[in-house]
Amino acid sequence: MTPQERVRLVDLVAGRVPKKRLKHMLRVETLAVRLARFWGVSEEKASVASLLHDIARDEPESFLLELVKDTNDPLVREMAETFAPVVLHAPVGALIARRDFGVGDPEILQAIALHTTGAPQMDRLAMIVFLADYCEPGRHFAGVEEVRSLLFSSLETAMLRALEQMLVYLRQNSRPIDRHTLDATAAFARLAAEDSQRLHQG
Ligand SMILES: [Fe+2]
Ligand SMILES: [Fe+2]
Repeated sequence: MTPQERVRLVDLVAGRVPKKRLKHMLRVETLAVRLARFWGVSEEKASVASLLHDIARDEPESFLLELVKDTNDPLVREMAETFAPVVLHAPVGALIARRDFGVGDPEILQAIALHTTGAPQMDRLAMIVFLADYCEPGRHFAGVEEVRSLLFSSLETAMLRALEQMLVYLRQNSRPIDRHTLDATAAFARLAAEDSQRLHQG
């Protein structure tokens, strides 16, 4: 993506989302690109995924459900059957990225689709977009500093802490919990346990 192509993408996105959302996506992009550079991930993919991740965030639930009804995408269909409709903006965002913005890269689409809930198997790009969304400088909540402090030492540990914090928040506020978040938390906890075992054996 040339700088001109990026400006064009930002302009297109700006025409579809409120200003506040665009500013959030630009902050996510800045952090995600830094993380991508550090962790050896494509900065271009991090940029495109970040600039599109919330493209469906401000659409009404009826619009999201309508789009979901018409798709064969297995991830979207599966997510539609879960009980937390607010998470739908993520997989629907991936649909829109493909349909309206011509994004064909499966890693980018996956990163957009998983940015709200997480999932057991996430590649580095998906973790980076999830964590940049969680930690961008506009976020101010208890615990965010802890996750920020892990971003450049272990993406997996940062994911685990973010997911655990998220579950506590959802439970305390009696919000529905998407199954992907529970599965992701269990998977990253397993990974952390294996890691510490390996360290002790080494
Ligand atoms: Fe989002
Ligand atoms: Fe976001």
